[in-house]
Amino acid sequence: MKVLLCGGAGYIGTHVALAFLEGGHKVGIFDDFSSGLRENVQAGTTLYEGSILDEKALEATLSDRWDVVVHLAAFKAAGESMTNPSKYAHNNITGSLNMIRLCERHSIKKFILSSSAAVYGEPVYLPIDENHPLKPMNYYGYTKQVIEDNLRWFHSLAGMNYVSLRYFNAAGYDRDGRMKGLERNPANLIPVVMEAALGKRERLDIFGDDYPTADGTGIRDYVHVTDLADAHVKGAEYLMENDSSLTVNLGSEEGLSVKEILDEARKVSGIDIPYRIVGRREGDPAKLVASSTLARQRLEWTARHSSLEELIETTWKAYKG
Ligand code: UD1
Repeated sequence: MKVLLCGGAGYIGTHVALAFLEGGHKVGIFDDFSSGLRENVQAGTTLYEGSILDEKALEATLSDRWDVVVHLAAFKAAGESMTNPSKYAHNNITGSLNMIRLCERHSIKKFILSSSAAVYGEPVYLPIDENHPLKPMNYYGYTKQVIEDNLRWFHSLAGMNYVSLRYFNAAGYDRDGRMKGLERNPANLIPVVMEAALGKRERLDIFGDDYPTADGTGIRDYVHVTDLADAHVKGAEYLMENDSSLTVNLGSEEGLSVKEILDEARKVSGIDIPYRIVGRREGDPAKLVASSTLARQRLEWTARHSSLEELIETTWKAYKG
């Protein structure tokens, strides 16, 4: 099939491109390089440079007859979305509506969205399945909810089929080292741990060790980006074979604490990574773990690369260079 990846030069988009290329598909990359990196545009893909806010550029690219459009072009720092909501309103909401509208105009009826567990907010029960109430605690999560709502409307009003993939904590790197450029200014735990190991930052600040968890630190469901990439290919196949839409969680269904991540990174790197305990970060729940039963049932997807060892080993390999 012929697939357009908007945001295909970003952290997740690059891994998604690799997965589609491996499946023998034709891949187009549409990216404005605001956070994506040119060195991550894979050989064998066609590059269309532009922003989802630039209707002309988007329209010119979408007119190129795509079977499936994958939307990964979003800002994703939840903390920043609370201090600069306009940036997120503009790119994540206006940009996404441009994509949905213009896909409809060009009769593209198969759409895959990078969504997030941030749509759920503070968990009411665990593990979180897709029926869990949606109450985002940050503006970033709200933007994802708005896009999902619009996809639902365009599904019923305009026959657009979509697969919305609600990622839990994306982590890890391609094990064959094909992703060359690392994320700039990372805020997520594992990249921060790596930078502390390499002396690029003084230390890791652990946001609270007084949570009601075994070691007192926050627990998350880390899912390897290669597993996430695989879900996009399965989502595209689903859209090619079914005249329906689907929203699924993507998680490993395992909880890992901040301290477990740090200990494994120390073991794998052999470095005594410096850290200190600081206060809790606002809006951080104690524990988030996914139920991915629906993805298993409907997409035949399961996380195969998301063990603690593989998450840390592949990330360390990418950072160590
Ligand atoms: C973040 C986003 C969330 C998004 C998810 C997946 C925030 C607040 N949330 O989740 O919206 O859906 O990624 O992309 O940004 N931690 C530290 N020290 C650090 C960094 C993190 O102790 O320097 C801890 C956190 O308190 C948390 C865990 O590590 O317990 C994971 O944090 P992080 O990687 O930032 O992801 P989330 O906040 O879970």
